[in-house]
Amino acid sequence: MPWLWSCASHVATLGSEVIGIDPTTAQVRAARDRGAGPRYARARAEAVPCRDASSDAVVLCLALEHIDAFEDAISEAARVLEPGARFVLLLARPLLQAPGSGWVDDRIVGEHYWRIGSYLREGTVVDTVAPGVDFVFIHRPLSRYVHAMGEAGLSIDDMEEPSPPPGFLAEAGGFAEAATIPRVLLLRARAAPELPISGRGRPVGRRTRAPVGTSDGSSYASSARSDRE
Ligand SMILES: C[S@@+](CC[C@H](N)C(=O)[O-])C[C@H]1O[C@@H](n2cnc3c(N)ncnc32)[C@H](O)[C@@H]1O
Repeated sequence: MPWLWSCASHVATLGSEVIGIDPTTAQVRAARDRGAGPRYARARAEAVPCRDASSDAVVLCLALEHIDAFEDAISEAARVLEPGARFVLLLARPLLQAPGSGWVDDRIVGEHYWRIGSYLREGTVVDTVAPGVDFVFIHRPLSRYVHAMGEAGLSIDDMEEPSPPPGFLAEAGGFAEAATIPRVLLLRARAAPELPISGRGRPVGRRTRAPVGTSDGSSYASSARSDRE
């Protein structure tokens, strides 16, 4: 799903009120034109324009690999989730996307295989996809994401590794084994449960920061809750 609208409008078909965000004007414009159902805003995952504990699910789809401060994006997801609510993270599978990875078609020894690059070395690859348009991809080991989720109180309870879609299989030149190598990873997690109640009948602890605005100054607060003390 390379477009904001395809992900957001799919979730909206499940009957939810959906807000889709992306910092890129073109993505948000295309989403408004093509992905009926959700509302869209130009905003960064590191500063989500929603109040604390106002969402029953967050889907972060194929974006963290393009974000320097990815830990901030994960804590933002945790901040806007209601206690116990669902977080879904889709990543380009880090082990297979490390710089230097890719198909090798060795016709001398008659082998066709996926080479894994420098997995433990973090690095940024910049692809110029069109004149003046750079696509920044930051490789990190999977553990960086899992640690950040733990730090944010997001507990992983499931993982999926789907077989690649036809477009990716075509890239492998018809090599049948390509269907057995997942390119995307899905982690399912839950936000920390409701805070315990103190002897005075008040929740103990505090759920993170105040809401922030979108790039155009608005803020979504459909099911806002006040901060707990
Ligand atoms: C590979 S595309 C995925 C698009 C869409 N999320 C999907 O999966 O259908 C990567 C997207 O990440 C977005 N992106 C880059 N920096 C971001 C940030 N700080 N916060 C949220 N999204 C960001 C880009 O604008 C781009 O649309």
